Amino acid sequence: MEHTHISPLELQDNLIKIIGKDYMLVTAGTMQQNNCLTASWGGMGFMWNKPVACIVIRPQRYTKEFIDREEFFTLSFFDESYKKIFAFCGSKSGRDVNKVKECGLTTFETKNGSVAYTEARLILECKKLYAAPFEKDGFICKDLLGNYENGDFHTQYISEITDCMIK
Ligand SMILES: Cc1cc2nc3c(=O)[nH]c(=O)nc-3n(C[C@H](O)[C@H](O)[C@H](O)COP(=O)(O)O)c2cc1C
Repeated sequence: MEHTHISPLELQDNLIKIIGKDYMLVTAGTMQQNNCLTASWGGMGFMWNKPVACIVIRPQRYTKEFIDREEFFTLSFFDESYKKIFAFCGSKSGRDVNKVKECGLTTFETKNGSVAYTEARLILECKKLYAAPFEKDGFICKDLLGNYENGDFHTQYISEITDCMIK
């Protein structure tokens, strides 16, 4: 089934659920060289008069190198039948395996040259607007610093949703 382009304003999904409970693949790179990871932290909303998506990426992720190199990345959401790919892409590194091949996914190029999957039921193409690592002093709730015992603070990326593709 082909994807249809819609406005982000037409999204009907519960975004808290699809990110936090169903998970997404964050993919960056080119058709020649790309990588993805499973993510369950992030959000979507409206900033600087634009529809935006926010993701947080730890410094050690191979995918981060691709996100930092490129202007765009994608967020892909799948039906329940693809649940297995999240365990795989969330535990293996693209430094060691070809995740697309191992998961049997089919890539295609999005309109701004990023990479997404034919099998995804919802794809958001995102253009980076702001990126910065979290800082220790910024945490009002110090309990959260337990997430960062190695000092590996996530980098937060706030990005404009430049395309929204749905099946
Ligand atoms: C359910 C789930 C959610 C995850 N969410 C994130 C996340 O939001 N940010 C992040 O940096 N890593 C997250 N991870 C970890 C990465 O997906 C994992 O470390 C992955 O193997 C990194 O692959 P890479 O080295 O190829 O980039 C999550 C893993 C799982 C299983």
